[in-house]
Amino acid sequence: MRLSAAPLIEASAIHRRVHELAVTIAADYADRDLLLLIVLKGGMFFGADLARALGGTAHVDCVRARSYDGTDSTGEVRFGILPEISLRDRHVLVLEDILDTGRTATALLQRLHAEAPASLEICTLLDKPTRRVVPIEARYVGFEIEDHFVVGYGLDYAEQYRNLPYIGLIEA
Ligand code: IMP
Ligand code: MG
Repeated sequence: MRLSAAPLIEASAIHRRVHELAVTIAADYADRDLLLLIVLKGGMFFGADLARALGGTAHVDCVRARSYDGTDSTGEVRFGILPEISLRDRHVLVLEDILDTGRTATALLQRLHAEAPASLEICTLLDKPTRRVVPIEARYVGFEIEDHFVVGYGLDYAEQYRNLPYIGLIEA
């Protein structure tokens, strides 16, 4: 397994898209207080950049959910950290790195719904719709991609490559 030489998505394209998403989200939530929930660890850079691009003020908290081991979805979702802020009656926007099979996001939403938020939506940087096992859609999607294993800008392969400023491909 190695990193391909050419980026799949350049840092400049990510930057532009994050700012476009921020404009859309800021307009959609103009009259509502927003609670951003960054899904660690993959969503850390996307979440940090999007939160700052939004302007204004928002509550920010983190959750930790994982279902991956190497490049294989284990199907089992575990929660490490849960939000410390109460979600009750709040407008919650979950910031994810990627929707793949959809299992992680589905389990996470189920867990968060139990706290009775006023609204609950997903914003994902990347979406691999052809890989979906559980039907779930994000309200906001940065980029739709094909069925590749990707790394960078928060996404890892065995904890490596998260700090790449672009999205790269892992090749066999
Ligand atoms: P799902 O539960 O299959 O949708 O997987 C979602 C999680 O798997 C993401 O939050 C990532 O942490 C991880 N994941 C899925 N696809 C990739 C990938 O291409 N590269 C790195 N991590 C991935
Ligand atoms: Mg993740």
